[in-house]
Amino acid sequence: MLEQWLGVLVDAGADAFHLSQPAFWQPAFPEFDEQLNLAGWAKKLVGVTAITVGSVGLNADVYQSFAGKRARAASLNALVARLEGDEFDLVAVGRPLLQDPAWLEKIRQGRYDQIADFTPAAFSTLS
Ligand SMILES: Cc1cc2nc3c(=O)[nH]c(=O)nc-3n(C[C@H](O)[C@H](O)[C@H](O)COP(=O)(O)O)c2cc1C
Repeated sequence: MLEQWLGVLVDAGADAFHLSQPAFWQPAFPEFDEQLNLAGWAKKLVGVTAITVGSVGLNADVYQSFAGKRARAASLNALVARLEGDEFDLVAVGRPLLQDPAWLEKIRQGRYDQIADFTPAAFSTLS
């Protein structure tokens, strides 16, 4: 079903899919042996560039943040392992950049001790 649905979009010209889920580490279809996330399934089924997003660098999902819960900064090791394993091609980040626009630069420079937790107050930085 997902293959058919995505196939229609590929036939219409889509060459990349940005597949959001609450947490990138959650299997999209736990009933199958392969524990791929949604981006992983899209890449496997239709072979286009797949972008994952969801709780990268954080230990709690966006819905918990909308409910006012703090999300702690978390390791990127599992994400990197899955990226290097070609489960997906690109990674998108939401809340960490709301919390700290320098997040990516800090990650790139290995300044992990300077990465802050996500606080729901950061949502107000959009206004
Ligand atoms: C303030 C805010 C607005 C968002 N608006 C949209 C939206 O309009 N459409 C959408 O598909 N996702 C939206 N999202 C979801 C994000 O694209 C992303 O999937 C989600 O925040 C998970 O990534 P994160 O855990 O890195 O924050 C929004 C997220 C936030 C925090």
